[in-house]
Amino acid sequence: MSLALSSILILNKPMTAEQKSDAARLLDIAGDYLRDGYRRDREAPVFLSDPSPQERGAASVAEAAQGPDTPDAVAEAIGGCTGCQLCKTRTKAVPGEGAGQPLVLVVGEGPGADEDASGRPFVGKAGQLLDKMLASIGLFRDTNCFIANVVKCRPPGNRDPQPEEIAACAPFLARQIALLRPLVILCAGRFAAQTLLHTAEGIGRLRGRFGVYSAEYPAITDHVTLGSSGVPIPILPTYHPSALLRDETLKRPAWEDLKTLRAKLVEMDDTYARETEGLH
Ligand code: URA
Repeated sequence: MSLALSSILILNKPMTAEQKSDAARLLDIAGDYLRDGYRRDREAPVFLSDPSPQERGAASVAEAAQGPDTPDAVAEAIGGCTGCQLCKTRTKAVPGEGAGQPLVLVVGEGPGADEDASGRPFVGKAGQLLDKMLASIGLFRDTNCFIANVVKCRPPGNRDPQPEEIAACAPFLARQIALLRPLVILCAGRFAAQTLLHTAEGIGRLRGRFGVYSAEYPAITDHVTLGSSGVPIPILPTYHPSALLRDETLKRPAWEDLKTLRAKLVEMDDTYARETEGLH
């Protein structure tokens, strides 16, 4: 805090408008760090809200709604995609993998180095932790989960995906959601949560509470938000496993989120409820 500000607070002197705005900014930044451990973005990320996806290199809404009609066909389309600059630096595209009728679709940010090399999602250290987290509530990528990412090709140096890359890839994720029809979507980390919920809120605030997919194109929204029961697919944000690897104190709240997910699945699926009875 600046010297002028601290002396004002200590001496209880009236503040000028500029000093008030400085103080508000500092409190805002401090709030972000205390809540989320980093400064969150001020702007909502662009995801399906752009008025002209074609201008951004994205496939049209109609294409996304009609697109490939099996998860394997989506994967094949992703493998050959040249819709954004990430195709130039990727080794392998990473479409995602898992059960054909998953209870849960896990959505991460984008492939890292291990995933780029193998073509499979979440296979590095963070992925191994993710598998353990899911297993603790009876979820497995080969039986009842599907694991995917917002963007399917690795952003160089693991930088955040750019708006035009997200927009170009969005129809693939939308199509996966439409075909897989998961009961619940689990967002792993800030990036996936902000993208799917179309919000700039930090993960510290979003985690552990169900939201509903917010796409601003009705054609896609209709396709992706309606679960098999005809109601919107609930979306639960939690911390990204790599955040848990960096900061052990996040493991406890992440565990609370997993219990929230399990309770929701028990409500929605009798077989899951029976099979995981007594787990916790
Ligand atoms: N982090 C992600 O968000 N996705 C992956 O596939 C791997 C690491």
